[in-house]
Amino acid sequence: MQIGKELYTGKAKSVFATDDPARYVMRFRDDTSAFDGGKKASLARKGAVNNKFNAFIMARLAEAGIPSHFERLLSDTESLVKRLEMIPVECVVRNIAAGSMCRRLGIKEGTELDPPTFEFFLKDDALHDPMVNDSHIRTFGWAGEEEVARMKELTFQVNAVLKPLFLDAGILLVDYKLEFGRYQGQVLLGDEFSPDGCRLWDAKTREKLDKDRFRQDLGNVIEAYEEVARRLGVDLS
Ligand code: TMP
Ligand code: ASP
Repeated sequence: MQIGKELYTGKAKSVFATDDPARYVMRFRDDTSAFDGGKKASLARKGAVNNKFNAFIMARLAEAGIPSHFERLLSDTESLVKRLEMIPVECVVRNIAAGSMCRRLGIKEGTELDPPTFEFFLKDDALHDPMVNDSHIRTFGWAGEEEVARMKELTFQVNAVLKPLFLDAGILLVDYKLEFGRYQGQVLLGDEFSPDGCRLWDAKTREKLDKDRFRQDLGNVIEAYEEVARRLGVDLS
């Protein structure tokens, strides 16, 4: 696999062309950001931990029949993925109230959400990722009606697979964000699933084991990601 030019530089990952026009290389960097890029740092080992964490999760999702862009690990920090046409919205499911839901609706952090909630956000840092609904998505042409329904269906299917997977490891899947894209007429899960884009709490102590450790200056950020990986059985070697 020949790695070509860098096509896209995100806040934590970079995307490279390959000799196959239908495949990209996704490189996980040590860079981290929060508050729509307002707070930035470099955290040693993060790129490799998240790359291997994401590969493990995408494999579990594939086994459950959830299609994603992930193909295979290429190196410690790189994965081969299908080239998607990204849909510019973020899909969030919450099992327990935290983060923006608490600020927006005055819900106490830790409140169990039954049934879990679903929210769309527009992926736009300059606008601070505002919440949008399916009517906005249709009107502004970000996705079609069937695509909206499919993103919602797949996002809930991910919950059905990952909530018990984490619970078996003594971890509560509090909430998570997914991004989707188009590939040969299908909607596939894209981007990544790692502790950067979800909230994970120890089931007994409710200790935070995700990017809130960085957002809230709690320390031991990557140590917590590694602890989650160890409990799940992710091979970090
Ligand atoms: P929120 O509480 O800030 O709305 O975030 C909900 C979940 O989605 C949380 O696990 C963080 C994740 N998320 C991102 O990773 N990136 C984003 O841009 C947004 C809006 C949410
Ligand atoms: N994607 C967002 C950012 O890096 C996530 C966050 O706000 O934590 O700014």
